[in-house]
Amino acid sequence: MEKKEIHPLRQGIHGEIEIPGDKSISHRSVMFSALGDGPVHIKNFLHAQDCLSTVKCVEALGAKVEFLSDEELVVTGHGIHGLKEPQSIIDAGNSGTTLRLMMGILAPQPFLTTFSGDASLHRRPMARVIKPLGMMGANIVGRDGNRLLPITVIPAGKKLKGMVYDMPVASAQVKSAVLLAGMYAEGDTTVVEPFTSRDHTERMLEAFGVRTEKEGTAVTIHPVEEFHSPKEIEVPGDISSAAYWLVAASILPGSDVLLRNVGVNPTRTGILDVLESMGADFELLNRRVSGGEAAADIRVRSAKLRGTSFGAEIMPRLIDEIPILAVAAAFAEGTTVITGAGELRVKETDRLQAVTDEFNKLSPGLVEASEDGMVIHGGQSLRKAEVASYDDHRMAMSLSIFGAAGEGVSIDHPDCVDISYPEFYNILENFGGKGA
Ligand code: S3P
Repeated sequence: MEKKEIHPLRQGIHGEIEIPGDKSISHRSVMFSALGDGPVHIKNFLHAQDCLSTVKCVEALGAKVEFLSDEELVVTGHGIHGLKEPQSIIDAGNSGTTLRLMMGILAPQPFLTTFSGDASLHRRPMARVIKPLGMMGANIVGRDGNRLLPITVIPAGKKLKGMVYDMPVASAQVKSAVLLAGMYAEGDTTVVEPFTSRDHTERMLEAFGVRTEKEGTAVTIHPVEEFHSPKEIEVPGDISSAAYWLVAASILPGSDVLLRNVGVNPTRTGILDVLESMGADFELLNRRVSGGEAAADIRVRSAKLRGTSFGAEIMPRLIDEIPILAVAAAFAEGTTVITGAGELRVKETDRLQAVTDEFNKLSPGLVEASEDGMVIHGGQSLRKAEVASYDDHRMAMSLSIFGAAGEGVSIDHPDCVDISYPEFYNILENFGGKGA
């Protein structure tokens, strides 16, 4: 089996890194453009497997997609009622965002769509979307009591009904699916979250002329008649990708890097708050707005980190950054306590279990898992080990940074980084973090 060897990077990291396009925003740019009434020129698109799953999906539904380069494409839809019946099963690959948001868009359509995906996506819970859409009148069936892939979205036979939905967990994917179905429904649709999750759907809908109303953690959408394509969408860089370098530079002594073009939408910046509470040394420069989203460059220098505590309230703002924050905690002085992170158990893999088992191979006794979190006893002795990525991109990248800052690591299924950050190893290797 192919393995990736990462050697210790004793000299730290220096220089500039251009952060690739945001994954969540790239998905939405393609999906919404496919419902638009004219061509949309998308710039700084994340050319990675997950977003390409969305591209294949909208092509199968009749939208025209033309790549001008890897990161630039033009997507032309046929209007909000212009999607066409796909001729075969749509493969959503590893992408929960493709599948869950598209279920919301497809539930009101007058044709049938069947989805499959990879082994990981087949294990992930889909009732969280199928149930609320069903409450609106949608007819979606899936394996194992409408919980799992394969899933078929069947024409509802009548207009969906708007509703007020109290979401049991904060989830931008569930919120987005219900709001997107709500565009086609009779009456208003409101979703109420326990805590606010990323709001890229609400922001980007505005660029297509669709207003949502926000009150506290509730978002309301009205039925939509017109969906006007903007000429252009510029995707800001992904803070979830910047996260690996934020932590690497913080924990590798002597580091000083400039991360260029990082999306800093406040629903995504939980990692900055946590790193600040740990004593990290970074500053936001050149703050600007890019495609309706806040962006900045971030300069990070190494610092002595200390342990911290955080829980459910901040979780939606850093949900994908727990594995790399666990690396920061491993190299910090003192204990870090993470609670309210039960959602990590249903990501691309069970990330609480994966972080616990793999990190303990690199530093025995480092992590103790609980039902919904972890206790990390930082500053313990480190060693080199062979570890498993579970074919999960965020596990592979977090383990790489752990190895680079520690005693090295050998990682299985390393290519899974192609899901969100195909250039990751090249950048690390340019810093000298590759072995023979
Ligand atoms: C995403 C939302 C999050 C996140 C995922 C992308 C999105 O999932 O973990 O990587 O683009 O809406 P949940 O909303 O299910 O927490």
